[in-house]
Order: sequence, then structure tokens, then C-alpha cells
Amino acid sequence: MRQLIDSGARRLRRAGVFFGHGTDNAWDESAALVLHALGLAHDDPAVYARRAGLAAQHGARELISRRIAERIPAVYLTGETWFAGLPFYVDSRVLIPRSPIAELIERRFAPWLEARRIGRVLDMGTGSGCIAIACAKALPWAQVDAVDISPDALEVAARNVRRHRLGRRVRLVRSDHFAALGAARYDLIVSNPPYVGARELASLPKEYRHEPSIALAAGAAGLDSVRVLLGQSRRHLRPGGALLVEVGNTEQAVQRAFPRLPFLWLQFERGGGGVFLLGAEQLPGPGGGRRRARRASA
Ligand SMILES: C[S@@+](CC[C@H](N)C(=O)[O-])C[C@H]1O[C@@H](n2cnc3c(N)ncnc32)[C@H](O)[C@@H]1O
Repeated sequence: MRQLIDSGARRLRRAGVFFGHGTDNAWDESAALVLHALGLAHDDPAVYARRAGLAAQHGARELISRRIAERIPAVYLTGETWFAGLPFYVDSRVLIPRSPIAELIERRFAPWLEARRIGRVLDMGTGSGCIAIACAKALPWAQVDAVDISPDALEVAARNVRRHRLGRRVRLVRSDHFAALGAARYDLIVSNPPYVGARELASLPKEYRHEPSIALAAGAAGLDSVRVLLGQSRRHLRPGGALLVEVGNTEQAVQRAFPRLPFLWLQFERGGGGVFLLGAEQLPGPGGGRRRARRASA
């Protein structure tokens, strides 16, 4: 097994594939593919000392060849990934979960929010459902609405909601942002929206082309979805509520477009960034606030 994984890692390195959709190095990526091909579990150290039969070796090499030739992220080949310590089914209908927001959820949002006061959560742009489901697990008293505009993504999210037996606490809603939510109000709106600008999108490694473009593309500057969140969240937040959004590399563009908003940019122990927190009262109010935000962005 070790030899099989080592040789797979050498091939991945030589081919210059991009890592960043679940693993960040060739050995882990090779191990994920080899173990999947052989139907073996990751959490059993004994698997690395096993001998693989010829047919199994061939299957593992074939999977690595596909990873290299088609530049398919490994997670789409294995159909499984982990987020906030939980397993999720994924396929190319959804973005591969990787948001640093996982770290905050695992800490129940400490020290920024008081978990006990979070009774209703909205996950805007839920994709695989990873953020909504991880929130429901971390806050077992909370009700979670998980919104996505993509029916394909909602099918994957539904599968994960069933898998984690959260049908009573995670409600899946098809909606263009807040359009189908009526007057619903939340203690926390959390979102990893699309935020990649046109130029950055064109320069991304080939692996990203396997992800749904609706999950990445957000207009010329990457701000389309963030503008909606900043403009409309206040009227969907309860007093004392909070908006938590990942914008990744678009952080600078967000600051330039909304210079008056007092963004709190969070730090992460496990890496990643570009995540801001705003209190409900810091957000632009209905009408006037939106005008202010538009002026600020001009
Ligand atoms: C970056 S992905 C995040 C998926 C998931 N939350 C995660 O962190 O892995 C953004 C998601 O927003 C959804 N989306 C894009 N435009 C939307 C809109 N106008 N209204 C609601 N959801 C939208 C996409 O379908 C996609 O699932």
C-alpha cells in the first residue's frame, strides 16, 4: 500500500496537478485515491501495511491517471469529503467544501458570538449543505434554513441532510438570495457565496472548471452576491444578530466598495481568511442603507 501511494504521489507531483480541493499535497491526495479505489478506510493505520492485489493496484493507478488526465478534483472521484469533522457526499453539482468557516462552527463561533443565543440560522448559498448541517450539529437547539438557487445543489444537500438525520432542523429552500424567504428573521446569517471576479476566474487552475460556475462566478469584480448580502441582511436579522461571510481573495475589493462598513476580518488557526463578521446594527438599513452602499461603491 505504501509503495502504491508513494508512486501515485510521484505521478501527481510530476504532472503538476493543483491541490486545494480537500488536500494540499500529493501524498494525501494519492492516499485518498488509492484507499478509495481499494475500498479501504482512512482511519485505520493498519491499511498502510497491507498488500494490494494486482487488480486492486491496477484500479488505483487508473484512478490516479484520471485525476491527472482530466484534472478532476480527487473529491469528485471519491464522492466524499469532510467538513467541520463531518462526512459529506459531493459530486460536480456542488462546490467542494473547504471554507475556513468550518473552524468557527467547530468552536461554536467563540469568542465572537454567544452560541446559546443563536436559535435560527440562515446558510445562504448552501451547496452541499455543509455549513448548514455543521451549524445544526454544533448548535443542536437551532433551526437552520439552507438556501440555494441551484436545484442540482439542493439535491446534493438533501442527500446530506438525510445522511445526518437533520430533516427536522435543516429546511432546504430554493431561492434567489432572500427572494423566497418572506419576512423570516435569523440570529445568524452565514454565507460562503460566489465571490470570484471575472479575471481571477479565467486564471484558475483547470480543477476549478469541474466545479459549478454558479458557485464561483460573481460578476466582473466578484461582488454581485456580497452586495445583495450586505444590502438585504439587516431586515432578515433579529436585533443583536450577525452576518458572517467568506469573500476570500475578494476581501480588498469588498473593503474598497464598502469603505464605511466596520468589517471585522477574522483570523484562522488552520489557515484561510477573507471572512468578515458584522453585527445587524452595523449593516445598512432598508432603503437608505442600500443607497449609501451603492454610493460608497461608485
Ligand atoms: C461558493 S458556493 C458555497 C457552497 C457551500 N456553502 C460551501 O461552503 O461549500 C456558493 C453557493 O451559492 C449558490 N448561489 C449562487 N447564486 C445564488 C443566488 N443568487 N441565490 C442563492 N444561492 C446562490 C451556488 O449555487 C453555490 O451552491
